[in-house]
Amino acid sequence: MNDDFHCNMSRRAFLAAVAGAAASASMRAARASAVDERQIKIAPGEARLNGANGPSTAVWTYNCTVPGPALRLRQGQPVRIVVENGLDEDTTVHWHGIRLPNAMDGVPGLTQRPIKPGESFVYEFTPPDAGTFWYHPHADSLVQIGRGLAGPLIVEEAEPVAFDRDLLWLLQDWRLTKDGQVAGGFGSMMDASMSGRVGNLVTVNGQAQPDQAVRAGERVRLRLANASVARLMALRFEGHRPVVVAVDGQPCVPHEPENGRVVLAPAMRVDIVLDMQGDPGSRHATIDDFYDGLAYTLVNLAYDKASPLRAHRLDAPVGLPRNPLSAPDLAKAVRQEIALQGGMMGGGKLAGVGGMMGMGMPGMNGGAAWAINGMSMTGDGHAGMAPQFTLERGTTCRLTMRNETAWWHPMHVHGFSLSVLTRNGSPVPHRQWQDTVLLAPKDTVECAFVADNPGDWMLHCHVADHQMAGLMTVFRVT
Ligand code: C2O
Ligand code: CU
Ligand code: CU
Repeated sequence: MNDDFHCNMSRRAFLAAVAGAAASASMRAARASAVDERQIKIAPGEARLNGANGPSTAVWTYNCTVPGPALRLRQGQPVRIVVENGLDEDTTVHWHGIRLPNAMDGVPGLTQRPIKPGESFVYEFTPPDAGTFWYHPHADSLVQIGRGLAGPLIVEEAEPVAFDRDLLWLLQDWRLTKDGQVAGGFGSMMDASMSGRVGNLVTVNGQAQPDQAVRAGERVRLRLANASVARLMALRFEGHRPVVVAVDGQPCVPHEPENGRVVLAPAMRVDIVLDMQGDPGSRHATIDDFYDGLAYTLVNLAYDKASPLRAHRLDAPVGLPRNPLSAPDLAKAVRQEIALQGGMMGGGKLAGVGGMMGMGMPGMNGGAAWAINGMSMTGDGHAGMAPQFTLERGTTCRLTMRNETAWWHPMHVHGFSLSVLTRNGSPVPHRQWQDTVLLAPKDTVECAFVADNPGDWMLHCHVADHQMAGLMTVFRVT
């Protein structure tokens, strides 16, 4: 394999190199079978987000592509990933949603020393859960994710699950200037204290509004991952009826989403099953209409002219095998509560922040615009972050999250998956486990999890600007 990476090699040459490497890697794996070895180099590169004739955008990349390469791992098989930092600033990689040892979690200061420019770090873990995950930096996150650093991570079921095809759409939101470059102004007070850095171009696997080729009659498992810094999405599949089979990598009871819309906040993943019921040769838009009046076409499903793969819809079950999550014992649960505070209210005033650490300008340079239980932890993670609460290993924690703000927050927990019990007092159906739980303004959500993974773990809003500006905390499992 070519160890000397050049991000200016043509995309075709690059894809050929990757295919060759993958073939030899799988041959090696067949021989050795023990540890799956991977390499990721982080470096500046170029991407054409608007097709071959669009402008070339300067981006930051994993292995020279945007998004980064899809890492396909096997449930229960150890992996060793060497990450090399070719940027001019510190970075780390966080394997979002994977329940792994604390030292592999990628939080600078808290779980590891940041990877300095020119240095590397070796991540080693064994994914316990099959499902759809993703990886991204946890240092200077707003800027690094905003410049393109994100990649899909798929953990394949130990026993293969039958679908005609397994597709993945990694969604990224870009704020671009008129000439197609990533706009500066990261961490402005406006963004930080309101809805975050929502951009003006959304890409699917690195392309704006692509066609997705499909075949009539086929059954597709479509993995959706929102890798945006701040944009919330709600996808409608015109002429189709998606069935949700997993949320944040964890299988749920298969169900049609409310009003046919698949809601994806930043960092969330949803696996759907789509039966391709359209006519050969037809086209159907997939529309994101989360924000009122700002609907746009994300992808077009483009049917092949070939006659349907099968005459009738498959009637095989669509459910996925469950992952080995510890069952919460609610009768013995320890209760914890976190209140989300701050953000801009009417009249240009910040609400609820300013007690402990909220001095200075909100947003950039460690200034706070948000708080959790009166405390603002800003940035990406650093040494000496005092835990909000401590849990003894093995206890069930019943965690209440109360959103006292006027804004949406996808709250993400590292190292665990949360069983979502109630929302505003009503039971949440479909047996949902999530690592990223979206709270609408004023929502209260109750979750439960077993504290079976020792370490200091982050709990934060995944709107990157909100996290940077104080909507973050840490808890400890001893
Ligand atoms: Cu997706 Cu703190 O992470
Ligand atoms: Cu995470
Ligand atoms: Cu938030």
